[in-house]
Amino acid sequence: MKERNLTNEISAALDTLTKAVFSQPLDKDADQKISVRPLQHKGKRLFQLERQRGAQAFHQNVEGEALLQLIETDLDGRYRQALLVTEEASAQYSLRQNGLYKKTGGAAVPRPAPAAQGHDREKQYLLREGEAIPALVDLGVFTADYRIVKARYDKYRQINRFLELIDQAFAGSDEKSITILDFGCGKSYLTFILYYYFAVKRGMDVKIIGYDLKADVVERCNAIAAKYGYAGLRFVHADVSRDVLYDETVDMVVTLHACDTATDYALHYAIQKGAKHIFSVPCCQHEINGSMHKGGELDIFLRHGIIRERMAALLTDSIRALVLEDRGYQVDMIEFTDFDSTPKNLMIRAKRTGKTGVAGRAQARSLAERYGFTQTLLELEA
Ligand SMILES: C[S@@+](CC[C@H](N)C(=O)[O-])C[C@H]1O[C@@H](n2cnc3c(N)ncnc32)[C@H](O)[C@@H]1O
Repeated sequence: MKERNLTNEISAALDTLTKAVFSQPLDKDADQKISVRPLQHKGKRLFQLERQRGAQAFHQNVEGEALLQLIETDLDGRYRQALLVTEEASAQYSLRQNGLYKKTGGAAVPRPAPAAQGHDREKQYLLREGEAIPALVDLGVFTADYRIVKARYDKYRQINRFLELIDQAFAGSDEKSITILDFGCGKSYLTFILYYYFAVKRGMDVKIIGYDLKADVVERCNAIAAKYGYAGLRFVHADVSRDVLYDETVDMVVTLHACDTATDYALHYAIQKGAKHIFSVPCCQHEINGSMHKGGELDIFLRHGIIRERMAALLTDSIRALVLEDRGYQVDMIEFTDFDSTPKNLMIRAKRTGKTGVAGRAQARSLAERYGFTQTLLELEA
């Protein structure tokens, strides 16, 4: 891969530069992070530097030439990570041992989507084949020349759809930072892509933590994140049903096929932290199916195994929606992908409104009592 000198890169892109961030200094006494953004002052285009030292931030406005001078003498080769965002594209760089930078990710900056046009719209994936995302090669989704590995095509479609729904939620948003937790992240295709989308495509400060029960998978994902200098992305070996999890502000909780009640613990956690956004695609909703007995009108659904199983899954997600609504969320149920891609194709999308209630949980509890089932989220949010 071609090596780069960042001062030259920034000099070439100065007219359209919208953001630059230098992080992870080699010198532990240096500013922890330096962000650059353009601003207009008395009809002149200047650049504002924000230097972060501990909890404090210091600002300085400079002209273009002075900025390049400062980058060359103080920043280039002295920070392990750099992000450059222009009006057209964003790119992430990692410092190599020879003092030059290697591009470790890049993307076009998203433009407002054109009006939906039937099938064509389906094909306009946010994550495109050919996009230079080396982490996806390590994860086995892309080949070395960034083509989709055939066996991973369904996963690729699922992740794209997930991303499309998130992109819709953030259309017009100018949020600068975000903290996301992914419950039951597994091999973490989605987790890496979310990091890439928010950090590289949107140029935001991103912190993402993926939790999973499998220690070896967690270790491998951490190694890939470190390899590409994804400083804000980490993976933690944890059982989300009992371990202590991240305890600061959380903006978004995601789950993609987190097994059975792991989804309930994710939703409960999101509610407790007041997360603004939840995107959850449940999977193997066995709990109600395993505990439900006959009790009234719903008995007609209990006569055939396949119907019982599907009804129990739908009942589970309906109760999850009632609980979320009571706890201050507006909830939409969305067909996540088509049934051919995966039968586990329902997404619970929830946005915090703060309007709380009790009626939904009361209705769900009365059903639970009558039919003898347990539902973890209902119990956790009693
Ligand atoms: C079907 S995989 C989905 C992985 C990934 N989200 C994806 O879509 O590719 C479900 C994952 O949830 C994890 N999991 C299940 N229960 C969990 C729990 N209580 N705590 C943490 N992870 C859990 C499993 O180890 C597994 O990796």
